[in-house]
Amino acid sequence: MRAGIIGAGWIGRRHAETLARRDDVAVAAVCDVDAGRAAQAAAASGAQVFTSWREMLADAALDAVWICTPPRAHVGPAVAALDRGLPVYLEKPIARAAGDAAQIAAAAARSRAVCAIGYQWRAIGFLDGLRSRLAGQAVGCLTGQSIGGTESRPWFLSQAEGGGNLLERGSHHIDLARSLAGEVTAVQAAGSEVRLAPRQAGQEAGDIADAVTIVLHFEGGGLGTIVVAWTSPELPGRYWLEVTTADAAFRLDLDPDFRLSGVAGGSEVAAVSPGSPFDGSVDRFVTAVRAGDPDLVFCPPADAVRTLAVAAAAEAALRSGRTVPVP
Ligand SMILES: NC(=O)c1ccc[n+]([C@@H]2O[C@H](COP(=O)([O-])OP(=O)(O)OC[C@H]3O[C@@H](n4cnc5c(N)ncnc54)[C@H](O)[C@@H]3O)[C@@H](O)[C@H]2O)c1
Repeated sequence: MRAGIIGAGWIGRRHAETLARRDDVAVAAVCDVDAGRAAQAAAASGAQVFTSWREMLADAALDAVWICTPPRAHVGPAVAALDRGLPVYLEKPIARAAGDAAQIAAAAARSRAVCAIGYQWRAIGFLDGLRSRLAGQAVGCLTGQSIGGTESRPWFLSQAEGGGNLLERGSHHIDLARSLAGEVTAVQAAGSEVRLAPRQAGQEAGDIADAVTIVLHFEGGGLGTIVVAWTSPELPGRYWLEVTTADAAFRLDLDPDFRLSGVAGGSEVAAVSPGSPFDGSVDRFVTAVRAGDPDLVFCPPADAVRTLAVAAAAEAALRSGRTVPVP
């Protein structure tokens, strides 16, 4: 499979490394508006270098593309690739704005090309088993933390560009919460005014809240609370989610190890997810492309549209201080 990568930043490089370990996919082209970054990511595989994704899609004879640009720059290459019938692994969030996300979902539906959105936690090995255990039970209480370091990219520091911690980091938890506790009907949110994370030298401080708490109201009547904080890289990361029903309580430890523990129906439950969900999500995409089956991917575009709607409602709640319904 000849793969192209659009956007050779942090996650684009990680995808290039992941694909380099596979013998069934070759990175044949890398595109970035920054030619140096593209060349650096292309060096290991000897891929062709582009600074325009339009030229790359026209000239590189690809079988699939990985889109790893900042959220505002997802819609252009994603719709163009899907309209060519090219399978797309599109990094999360599906887009910055609902309109862009709808265009991407419509292009995927139109083309029937395989399209996966990079919410890789959906590839955690024990999730299917956990969902089976939760079937028929209302989740009454869900709590989660996403606290740790990340790079201070300029678009991430701008609420308008990247959606801040809510969209960039918190949407992983929102997506996982939706997949376990069901749809979210309304959201509340509040942000901290304390600066927690150091900005890269020469960068603006930005206008995002370094810590945000959101309250999710689930369709089934339950409540979720998720705390997202961007901290100094020297502090330990803490990523977990807990789910409680009338007769079960589960804890999911997330990143770098993925473990399930808890009690259900009076018995202890424990599981470890083998391998990395990031690699698992990519592997499932490759399998779906080979099978020509868009339904095989872990997170299809239509589902990621719902996750974006919850994150956008949380952003509106952060601005207004009110409870915001999810459309
Ligand atoms: N799945 C995950 O865990 C995860 C982790 C980090 C980032 N991400 C997502 O990946 C995407 C990129 O994040 P990042 O951290 O790699 O950002 P980044 O800023 O490090 O890299 C983005 C790259 O895209 C390039 N770019 C911008 N516009 C372009 C265009 N029109 N054409 C070609 N290249 C262009 C930039 O020059 C930059 O090199 C975001 O959507 C982010 O949310 C996902």
